[in-house]
Amino acid sequence: MIEIVNLNKSFGENVVLKNVNLTIETGQTKVIIGRSGVGKSVLLKSIMGILIPDSGSIKIDGVEVTDLPEKEYNKIRMKIGMVFQGGALFDSMNVAENVAFVLNEFMRLDKRTVDKKIEESLALVGLQGVEDMMPSELSGGMKKRVSLARVLCMDPEVIFYDEPTTGVDPVTADAINTLIVELRNKLDVTSIVVTHDMNSAYKVADKIAMIYSGQVIAEGTPQEIQQATHPVVRQFINGDAKGPITDGEHLVFGHLT
Ligand SMILES: Nc1ncnc2c1ncn2[C@@H]1O[C@H](COP(=O)(O)OP(=O)(O)OP(=O)(O)O)[C@@H](O)[C@H]1O
Ligand SMILES: [Mg+2]
Repeated sequence: MIEIVNLNKSFGENVVLKNVNLTIETGQTKVIIGRSGVGKSVLLKSIMGILIPDSGSIKIDGVEVTDLPEKEYNKIRMKIGMVFQGGALFDSMNVAENVAFVLNEFMRLDKRTVDKKIEESLALVGLQGVEDMMPSELSGGMKKRVSLARVLCMDPEVIFYDEPTTGVDPVTADAINTLIVELRNKLDVTSIVVTHDMNSAYKVADKIAMIYSGQVIAEGTPQEIQQATHPVVRQFINGDAKGPITDGEHLVFGHLT
């Protein structure tokens, strides 16, 4: 469904992605793990065409998108839903307006159909009766779920989740993980999930890929990743402050005396 070959992206001197290669099979869930700032969101935004890569190829459903005119890209984007890290809700719109934003803007549907879609999508993420609430009245976890409902009401073929369980309680996190698995099993959705949450990674992934220093340094099933011997992978999955990860030495804090 998605094929990325030799993708490069820098911001000035800051080289973020270096010859990244990644394939996501149709109907599979690929989890991307890696330290904060390693370029996970940049990767998702590059696939969405929100950021323009410096070089390399991205094919979505067989179509090369890196040099696609905006109008053609929009057709591809309609197949992809992105659940943004912070929710990315419009502050001035209530929950229902946020969830139905794309439906209202770009599709000619009658109000009853739209209202039904809103209700169904909110029910899928376990939120009911919140249609009239404003984003400022929602908790962080609720915002995430509204953002997911907004994606679901588009019946997407592909879903990108940027940190879907970060900052939500363990019970909600598990419900989100279950939903990600169900969407794959029942609707054959292809997904990329970016996360630091290894519990979530093991639960939802068909394959896990770890990005380090701009590159994919390990890739495999949850079991293969759990058994990986690469010291950087081991440090990350065990959550150790000390280890070979060089760009994080400042994170080894001193001891209180
Ligand atoms: N629009 C931008 N302009 C300039 N630099 C950017 C931009 N977006 C991201 N970066 C830089 O790219 C690097 C990777 O950022 P990115 O947001 O992809 O990290 P991440 O892996 O998603 O981290 P986190 O886990 O904290 O979300 C960072 O050094 C960041 O400063
Ligand atoms: Mg990010």
